[in-house]
Amino acid sequence: MIEAEWWEYDSVEEMADAVAGDVGFIVESALDARDSALIALPGGTTPRPIYPKIAERQLSWKRVTIIPTDDRLAPLDSDLSNIRAIAQTFLPTGARVFPIATTIEDHKLAGNAADARLQDLSWPPDLVWLGIGADGHTASIFEGPDMQDALDAPKARRAVGVMPDPMPQDAPVPRVTLTRAAILSARTLLITITGSEKRSLLEQAIADGHSSKLPIGRVLAEAEQPIDIHWCA
Ligand code: 6PG
Repeated sequence: MIEAEWWEYDSVEEMADAVAGDVGFIVESALDARDSALIALPGGTTPRPIYPKIAERQLSWKRVTIIPTDDRLAPLDSDLSNIRAIAQTFLPTGARVFPIATTIEDHKLAGNAADARLQDLSWPPDLVWLGIGADGHTASIFEGPDMQDALDAPKARRAVGVMPDPMPQDAPVPRVTLTRAAILSARTLLITITGSEKRSLLEQAIADGHSSKLPIGRVLAEAEQPIDIHWCA
């Protein structure tokens, strides 16, 4: 049974302040407990106004490692790159920003390389923060020939390569992504979405659970930890 708690806001600004506070608390708690923190941040547009609010928090950033939940196989200086936006905001804090995408064209080999890089990190993440696409993808777990690999990868596998099919119009490129097992290994799971359509999509995916056709539904169906969902219209 998926244990989801919804947090509703009247504006993106209000949601951004709340999520930044939650992420700051998660990092502080990790630093207090283990003297280090590992957080996985989503790409896309929803987190953009939230990143700076997190970065301005007074934390021991040099002990924080930040990875993307997924990245596009695109040049690091491309607007398509998720790590580019994360690096621009968080490198100035002194945090370690850890790319997982490489220039390997074959997405499956790129997935192997991403997994090898992530194996070097102490695991599990203290936070995995997810966004959700209008098609129900999360991280870069998309419907298509590679979805099952991302969902059914063994617990030890942290990343795989994905060729979405159909390709998303806003970023029609192959990707590397955390696996479902890696996402659900997180000490804390947090989702941010906006708009009524995504809210309905997520509510239905949670209700459908294992029988959901949507990647987000199939990921959350296996969640053992509570999930905080932050939403504004
Ligand atoms: C990506 C993201 C992806 C994102 C959703 C939602 O690389 O595309 O990691 O999972 O979170 O597409 O994006 P928006 O926040 O822009 O709707």
